[in-house]
Amino acid sequence: MVDKTNRLEARYARSLELLARAEKAIPLQAQTFSKSWTQYPRGAAPVFAARADGGYVWDADGTQYIDWPMGLGPLLLGHNHPSVNAAIAEQLKSGIAFSLPTEAELALSERLVDWFPYAERIRFGKNGSDATAAAVRAARAVTGRDMILCCGYHGWQDWFIGTTTRDAGVPEEVKRLTEAFPYNDAERLGALLDKHAGAVAAIIMEPMGVIEPAPGYLEEVRRLADRHGAVLVFDECWTGFRIHPQGAYGRFGVAPDLACFGKALGNGVPISVLLGKASVMDALSEVFFSFTFGGDLLGIAAAMAVLDVLESEPVLDHVAGIGGELMTGFRDLVSAHGLSDHIGLDGYPARHVMSFKGDGHDGLLLKSIFQQEGLARGILSAGWHAPSYAHNSDDVSRTLEAYDNALDVLAQGLASNDLADRLLGEMVQPVFRRP
Ligand SMILES: Cc1ncc(COP(=O)(O)O)c(C=O)c1O
Repeated sequence: MVDKTNRLEARYARSLELLARAEKAIPLQAQTFSKSWTQYPRGAAPVFAARADGGYVWDADGTQYIDWPMGLGPLLLGHNHPSVNAAIAEQLKSGIAFSLPTEAELALSERLVDWFPYAERIRFGKNGSDATAAAVRAARAVTGRDMILCCGYHGWQDWFIGTTTRDAGVPEEVKRLTEAFPYNDAERLGALLDKHAGAVAAIIMEPMGVIEPAPGYLEEVRRLADRHGAVLVFDECWTGFRIHPQGAYGRFGVAPDLACFGKALGNGVPISVLLGKASVMDALSEVFFSFTFGGDLLGIAAAMAVLDVLESEPVLDHVAGIGGELMTGFRDLVSAHGLSDHIGLDGYPARHVMSFKGDGHDGLLLKSIFQQEGLARGILSAGWHAPSYAHNSDDVSRTLEAYDNALDVLAQGLASNDLADRLLGEMVQPVFRRP
């Protein structure tokens, strides 16, 4: 064990040195919670990344990993996609920040109006949270109501994060104005709309998280929104371009009033959009949604390039193939190791999430050891995969080989009841604690 710990210290030496420095300079030691040390077994995991290319990332110690979180989802085309990089480089030649609007923002807006049949107006943000917050404010303005019903994750701002366990700093008055509802349960949504009759401004939801909508569910949500006069917002920050080029509308045929896209739109360059019906969107002429970097040209250049690639290359077929191989292979391994009671996998080929349970630590000990063993074999994952156009079947085979080993360690630890001894780093933390 001492030997192993020493080897780990050497493997992650630079990361741990940077972490010690960051403790003095950066609260949480990271800018984004899901990128932070809390999500990896600290001491047995890299903490800082140095560079990336295609489907790979190198940590601060120079070790290469197959990258499955891919920047938390944006890198649908892979790191350093040549078309996106070329578009960014081209834009750099003519300026990136102006004090007037540009033809480029008009061109991207017109393209998105053509891209989504239900979209008549477009506004840009930088993060997904910008788009969801603007959707909520516009919906409140046009309906004259305050209540928001939500389903899924929608970003860091008060209106949403107050519904979670990471709600420190959100006033009680604000928390009371948003209520979460469970997915695939139209009856519950109907009951909430009745409870808040005449007060619900918007129903905002991820049209699909990691579970397929039950037949007729999204149609029923659409009907309920109409019946109660609420604005229906699809938050497509994940589904956007991963389930269909037109997102949930393209896949399920249900049109929201508004939709929010982010992540994959810029393939890593920050840009998000709020789009939808003129009857709601036009409120944004008055409703304040404005910030210095609105219309940022690097984001626009990247988004245009992403749409070009999506239009001309079989991106989603490739991602579905790679992701499908990964899902099937993982499920087969879990059952071969007799771990089906402890480990599950939900989602779709382009985004899927593991669940761990049954070790007395809410599954987090199993998850931590699984990550630790994957990392030791060159796989970066926090228990979920966001496959990209840059990944290939060889990456999948190497990942499954590493997972075979990792699952073996878990099966042995469970059989001999010594799981805790097998964790060489610290246990990972939940994103949102269970109440
Ligand atoms: C579905 C969904 N909506 C909104 C957001 C917020 O986006 P951002 O973190 O870019 O503000 C996220 C981020 O993960 C998301 O997954």
